[in-house]
Amino acid sequence: MAKLKRSFFTSYGLCLAAASTLALAACGGSSSSSSPPPVDNSSSSSSSVSSSSSSEVSSSSEVSSSSSAGPIAVETDVQLYTQASFPIGVAVSAANEPFSIFNNNDGVERQDVITHHFNELTAGNIMKMSYLHPQEDNYTFGDADVLVNFAKSNGMKVHGHALVWHPDYQVPGFMKNYSDDWEAMLTEHVTTIVNYFDDTVVSWDVVNEAISDSPNQGDGWRKSLFYNALPPAAEGDIPEYIKVAFKAARDAKPEGLDLYYNDYDNTANTARLNKTLEIAAALKDEGTIDGVGFQMHIYMDYPSLNNFENAFQQVVDMGLKVKITELDIPVVNPYGSATPPPLPEYGETLMGQQKLRYCQVTQVYLDTVPEAQRGGITVWGLGDNESWLMNQFRNATGADYDDVWPLLFNADLSEKPALLGIAEALAGEPCTSDF
Ligand code: XIL
Repeated sequence: MAKLKRSFFTSYGLCLAAASTLALAACGGSSSSSSPPPVDNSSSSSSSVSSSSSSEVSSSSEVSSSSSAGPIAVETDVQLYTQASFPIGVAVSAANEPFSIFNNNDGVERQDVITHHFNELTAGNIMKMSYLHPQEDNYTFGDADVLVNFAKSNGMKVHGHALVWHPDYQVPGFMKNYSDDWEAMLTEHVTTIVNYFDDTVVSWDVVNEAISDSPNQGDGWRKSLFYNALPPAAEGDIPEYIKVAFKAARDAKPEGLDLYYNDYDNTANTARLNKTLEIAAALKDEGTIDGVGFQMHIYMDYPSLNNFENAFQQVVDMGLKVKITELDIPVVNPYGSATPPPLPEYGETLMGQQKLRYCQVTQVYLDTVPEAQRGGITVWGLGDNESWLMNQFRNATGADYDDVWPLLFNADLSEKPALLGIAEALAGEPCTSDF
C-alpha cells in the first residue's frame, strides 16, 4: 500500500492570508466568537516536521511560516471512503440549520468535502421524530427529501436516525399526550417513515438510547414516554415499545434495510453494555435486528481500546453488525474531574495524539469486526466548530469551551491530522502520532 500523501500548514495561518474580511470570518470558525484561535508556538516550526515528505509539501505550507497560531491542516491525496469496504459516513446539517450543507454561504463547499470523503450521510437532526412526523396525521418529508436526493445523486447512501428517541425537543407534540392505542400509533409512525424512503436509505437507528442514564440503578431502563406507554410485558423482558418499533420496521421492509439499536457509552459502561446486549438478544430472537450502533462520543483516553474491542466482540459473537454511528473525539473531557479542566493548547502535539486515537479506534474496529459484520463508521459532524459537543458540555457541566476540536476538519473545512489517522488505519498502516 502506497504511503498516504500528506503535508501540512496552519489552517489559521491560511485564514490570516485570506484577502477579504468575509473569508477571515469564515476561517475563524464560530466566527462571531471574540476569542482568537489558540496559540501553538510549535506549529511555527512546521516546516521542519514536514521535511520528511518535503517533496509533497504543498505551497500552502509557506503560509504557515508567517503565522505562529492555530490548528493545523494536512493536505492528503486520500478519499476516505475509497479505502474502506464498508460505509464511511458523516452527520450533516441540512434544511435551514446552522452549517446546513444547503445554505447559500458555504453549503457547496461543504458538499464538495462530503462527496470527496464519504459515501454515507446521517441527518444530524432533520430525520428525527418531530421533523418527519409533527402531527398525528401529518408527515413532513420535504427537508429529508432534499438530503436523500443529494445523497442519491452523488452515489451515497443514508443511515436513518432515529425512528424512536426520547428527548423532549424531538418527540412529536401529539405523542406527549397520546392516550389511544400506542402500539398501533407507533407501528404506523415507523411503518410510514420506513416505507416512504427508497433504497438510498439503507439502515435505521430504530430505537435510540432506551437505557437509563444510570444503567446501574433499578432495572436500568429509561422511563421515557415510550416506556411508560408500552413497558415490558413481563419481568425480565425488554420494553414492549422496542419490540413494536423493530417489528414494524422489519415488516415494512423485510429485505435490504439494516435495523440498529443505538446507544451511547455502551463500551466502557458494563451495565449499559449488558443492557444493550439484552436488547440485541431479545430482538434477535424475534428476527428484527441487524446490528448494534455504538455512538462513540469518546475522549482521548477514555474508554480504553480494550473496552472497544470487548464490546464489539460481544456483538460480533451474536452474529450482528457493529456500526460506529456518531464518532467524535474532543481533546478535553469535562466529566473526567470534579470541575471541567481548562482547554488544552491545541497544537501539533495534541493534534498528533488525536490522529493516533482516531487511527487506533478504526484499527480496533477493523481487527475485531469481520468484514461482513461491519456496518460502517460515521463521524458526528464535519468542521470542528459545528460540533454539538460545546453546547452539550455547557449544558451538562457549565464548561464554557469555545471549541473542543473533536472532528476531522478544521472550521475552514481543511483536513486535520485526525482524518489522516482514519486513513492510515484503513490503509493498514501502523498508527502513529506523526504527520
Ligand atoms: C444531537 C445533534 O447533533 C444536535 O444538533 C442536537 O441539538 C441534539 O442532538 N446522540 C444522538 C444524536 O443520538 O441524535 C445527538 O445529536 C447527539 C447524541
